[in-house]
Amino acid sequence: MPSKVTLAVLGAGERGTGYGAWALAHPERAGVVAVAEPRRVRRERFAAAHGLGAGAAVDDWRALAARGRVADAVLVCTLDRDHLEPVLAFAALGHHILLEKPMALTEGECRRIVAAVEEAGVILAVGHVLRYTPYTRALKGVVDSGRLGEVVSVQHLEPVGFWHQAHSFVRGNWRREDRAASMLMAKSCHDLDWLQYVLGRPPARVSSFGRLSHFRPENRPAGAADRCLDCAVEAACPYSAPRDYGDRLAAGRHGWPLSVVVDEFTPRALDAALREGPYGRCVYACDNDVVDHQVVAMEFDSGATATFTMTAFTEQADRQTRVFGTRGELRGDGRRVRVYDFLTRTEELVEFDAEGTMDAGGGHGGGDAGLMDAFVAAVAAGDPGLVKSGPRESLTSHLTVLAAERARRDGTVETVVRQGDGAS
Ligand SMILES: NC(=O)c1ccc[n+]([C@@H]2O[C@H](COP(=O)([O-])OP(=O)(O)OC[C@H]3O[C@@H](n4cnc5c(N)ncnc54)[C@H](O)[C@@H]3O)[C@@H](O)[C@H]2O)c1
Repeated sequence: MPSKVTLAVLGAGERGTGYGAWALAHPERAGVVAVAEPRRVRRERFAAAHGLGAGAAVDDWRALAARGRVADAVLVCTLDRDHLEPVLAFAALGHHILLEKPMALTEGECRRIVAAVEEAGVILAVGHVLRYTPYTRALKGVVDSGRLGEVVSVQHLEPVGFWHQAHSFVRGNWRREDRAASMLMAKSCHDLDWLQYVLGRPPARVSSFGRLSHFRPENRPAGAADRCLDCAVEAACPYSAPRDYGDRLAAGRHGWPLSVVVDEFTPRALDAALREGPYGRCVYACDNDVVDHQVVAMEFDSGATATFTMTAFTEQADRQTRVFGTRGELRGDGRRVRVYDFLTRTEELVEFDAEGTMDAGGGHGGGDAGLMDAFVAAVAAGDPGLVKSGPRESLTSHLTVLAAERARRDGTVETVVRQGDGAS
């Protein structure tokens, strides 16, 4: 097994660039040897950062696959609907794979991915980065220690944030289910996966409610234009694109999400993007259809219950969780973990080092780096056990998401399909 792992990046967008940056920061452990990216600016910028010659930077992952085994591992960072095919192709060629979430969008496709990597005998790590944060390690450590007694109830909130919702799920790539995925799959597959990981098992039954309530044409204010730059009431709108992206540009905050909107960080480039591109559109005049709020209720075999809420209508904040046990209560806010002990009636703040913020721009609280660290270590050692989000546990959490979406659409209580191995 290699001591230094070679990587090929498929899709040098936000995620591919971020994982590539980890390799640049750890040159003794990993190096990028090839990239596939159709957008020329992105491809050239990425190739220059990694010192790749023209032959190692191509415009489609298929062109790399045609070359056979190009690296020890590939990072599949294409959009949601372009995960299955590259995984099947590169697994068959013997590459280990880091696959961005969601694995795929249907049960059948997820199962094909699991079968393909198992047949090829390659390591697969799915991008459930929240499993890899110091915060999660600390929180799960408390649950696993038994200090809380038996866990009876859980309450988990994903406060997506009003501008993040507008950016990604009203104007951006994940606004439509037919082009990307359901909101629960695109965003909250992280949360249902995380709950399964922390509690050590998937739920047995789920129900769900949610809809697109606010970002609809009928809520468009009187006098609003199709684009913010032409809008008479823009100043009074919380979802103003010029204000949000303009403030970031002025402050020199050039990372995500501004890097999704422009390639050049100038007022002129931003103006052009807001006049012509998707991110300058009125949030009430987009072709979006994914929900802006949703709840999922879960029941576990033990009788324990959990509730999950995702909502657009929050300030930017970390996920928040309360775990209610028979001997104590845990409260986590994404940065701190507090445990209240019923016997001693005292509260303890669990110490750990938080890293970055929990959003994409902040590296998901150390989760992005933690995933790369684990994946590269697993490939170097040939040990899939170092990965916390392997094919079977990720399949289980995707099956929970699919069951919850069925429940929301059909108004039913759904039994979560078990894959038969009880993986968590
Ligand atoms: N783990 C997480 O927390 C997290 C966060 C955000 C996004 N994601 C997931 O990561 C994936 C990528 O998201 P992103 O934000 O980087 O999107 P992005 O649009 O920035 O990047 C996707 C890239 O794939 C490229 N691409 C398209 N067709 C290609 C092809 N045939 N060959 C090679 N490249 C091709 C696009 O040009 C683009 O640059 C998505 O599935 C998304 O859901 C995961």
